[in-house]
Amino acid sequence: PDYFYYVLLEVQRLWPPFIGGRRIANQDTTLGGFHIPKGYAAVYISHAIHRDPEVFQQPKDFLPGRWGGRNAGQEHLLCSLGNGPRNCIGVQLDNVFLKAVCGYLLQHYDWDLSPYSQDLQYKCLPVSRPTVPPMVSFTELELESSASDLPDGPH
Ligand code: HEM
Repeated sequence: PDYFYYVLLEVQRLWPPFIGGRRIANQDTTLGGFHIPKGYAAVYISHAIHRDPEVFQQPKDFLPGRWGGRNAGQEHLLCSLGNGPRNCIGVQLDNVFLKAVCGYLLQHYDWDLSPYSQDLQYKCLPVSRPTVPPMVSFTELELESSASDLPDGPH
């Protein structure tokens, strides 16, 4: 379960579902050396923040183990669902959904790109997704447990 959670975090880090967000300065302020006058917007870009090499070594690589090592306990540095006092209120609910749905699919299906070679380019606007919808084939796994052992959900 720990490694599964690290994989979900690493997917979120590399492919955040939203490009970022913004805040309107309610007073003149300075951020990272930039002057922001009252009423102006400061925009954060999750994709760039999640690839900060000072925080995430080998930032472009898919390395779920980092969440159990150097970046253990640093989930709060991700901002795919915003950050700070006005972040998404659905964070915990999202975690429940992701674990339940991805866990179910992994436990019950073998899945593959079909055909294997596809254009998997990713676009950020308006929300992150593959440019061309990918085609995936799911093959139901033969389960050793009986149907009554399955968790509630889409069987
Ligand atoms: C994959 C699912 C979701 C994504 C990617 C997502 C993403 C976001 C993002 C990026 C923000 C802006 C945060 C910011 O400006 O810092 C936000 C705000 C918000 N989200 Fe979500 N969200 C998701 C699911 C949900 C769910 C399930 C709920 C409700 C149960 C929810 C309720 C809200 C609310 C109410 C805000 C505004 C919070 C505020 O302004 O104080 N979201 N969300």
